[in-house]
Amino acid sequence: MADYTKKIMITGGAGFIGSHVARLFVKKYPQYLIVNLDALTYAGNLENLKDIESSDNYVFEKGDILDERFIAGLFEKYDFDAVIHLAAESHVDRSIIDPLAFVRTNVLGTASLLNTALQSWKGRLDGKLFYHVSTDEVYGSLGEEGFFTEETPYDPRSPYSASKASSDHFVMAYHHTYGLPVVLSNCSNNYGSHHFPEKLIPLMINNIRNKKSLPVYGKGANVRDWLYVEDHARAIDTIFHKGKNGEKYNIGGFNEWKNIDIVYLLCSIMDKKLGRPEGESAKLITFVKDRPGHDLRYAIDATKLNKELGWEPSLQFEEGLEKTVDWYLQNEDWIKHVTSGDYQRYYDVQYVK
Ligand code: NAD
Ligand code: DAU
Repeated sequence: MADYTKKIMITGGAGFIGSHVARLFVKKYPQYLIVNLDALTYAGNLENLKDIESSDNYVFEKGDILDERFIAGLFEKYDFDAVIHLAAESHVDRSIIDPLAFVRTNVLGTASLLNTALQSWKGRLDGKLFYHVSTDEVYGSLGEEGFFTEETPYDPRSPYSASKASSDHFVMAYHHTYGLPVVLSNCSNNYGSHHFPEKLIPLMINNIRNKKSLPVYGKGANVRDWLYVEDHARAIDTIFHKGKNGEKYNIGGFNEWKNIDIVYLLCSIMDKKLGRPEGESAKLITFVKDRPGHDLRYAIDATKLNKELGWEPSLQFEEGLEKTVDWYLQNEDWIKHVTSGDYQRYYDVQYVK
C-alpha cells in the first residue's frame, strides 16, 4: 500500500452526506487513503461517487457495520487511523413504519463499530479518532423561541432520533470508559445534490417536475434549519482536523424555514425554470395527515464551532436551493434509477395507503 499519511474509513459513504464527505476528502487530501464502507441499502448508491471512483486514494468496500468479522478484517487490512461514521438509517417516516431496523443499524451497528475500533486499536489509541456524525433531532423539539446548544439535554421523540441519541451515548461511553478518542457532531437538516427523494426538498422537486401532488404534513408550520450539504462536509473536515478529543459540536445554518414556505419557494423557482405560468406548481400543494409525534421546530446554535474552530456556512439558502433544483433537472437518470423498484412501494405505503 502506498505511503498514506492517514488511512480513514468513511462508513455510509455511498449515501447523501457520506458521498459529499468522501468526495471532499478524496479530492482535498490525496495524501490520505479513503476507504468507503457501505452496505448499499436502498439509500446507498455508487452513482453518487462516479467522479472519484477511479481516484488512486479511494477504495470502496461493500459490507454491513453489523458484520463484526468483516469490519475487523478491514481494520486488519488497512490499519485505519480514523473512522468517520455516517452509516445509518436516516429517514424519520421509515422509522415510524419499522423502528427496529433503526435500532439494529443505528444503535447496535454503532456499538459494534465502536467495539471493533477499540479492539483493533488496543494498546495504541494515541493518534486514533472515531468521528461520529449525528443529528440535531437528539435534542427533541423547540417551541417558538430558543436554540439547541451543545448543553441542551437529549429529548429524542421519534424512533429515528431515539436511535441516534442512543448511538451518541455509546460513543461518549466508549470515550469515558475505555479512553477511545472521539469527536461527535450534531447537524441540522441538509439539502443539496444526491439527496434521496423521500426527504422533503428532493421529494417536492421530483413531484413538481412530474406534476404530482405535493404532500405537506399538517399545516406545513413546522420549522427546520437548513444547511447546504457541502457546508456540512466542510464542517466535518474542520472538526475532524481541529476538534478536541471527547468534544461535541453543533452544526447549523442559522437558516430557519417553515415547510410550507420552502414548498412555495420551490414551486416558484421551478415554474420559472420549467417555463410554467407563475403559481401553476403551487396548485399541486396538498395538506395531508400529520407525521405522528412531529417535532415542531429545530434551530441550531453553531457558535461553538464558529468561535473555536472558525467554520461558517458559505451559501445563502436561495442560492443553494437554485443550485439543487438545477442539479435535479440536469440529472434525470439519477432520479429515474433511485425511484425505480422499492421506492414506489415505500411511496404507496407512506402517501397512498
Ligand atoms: P442516507 O440515508 O442518505 O445514507 C446512509 C448510508 O448508510 C447509505 O449509503 C446506506 O447504504 C448506508 N448504510 C445504511 N445501513 C448500513 C449498514 N448497516 N452498514 C453499512 N452501511 C449502511 O443518510 P444521510 O442523510 O446521508 O445521513 C448520513 C448521516 O448523517 C446519518 O448518520 C444521519 O443520521 C446523519 N445526519 C443526516 C442529516 C440529514 O439532513 N440528512 C442531518 C444530520 C445528521
Ligand atoms: O434535523 C436533521 C434531520 O433532518 C436528519 O437527522 C434526518 O436524517 C433527516 O431526514 C432530516 O429529518 P426531518 O424529519 O426534519 O426531514 P424530512 O425531509 O423528512 O422532513 C422535513 C420536514 O418536512 C418535516 O417537518 C416533515 C415535513 N415533510 C416531510 C416529507 C417527507 C412534509 O411535510 N412532507 C413530506 O412528504
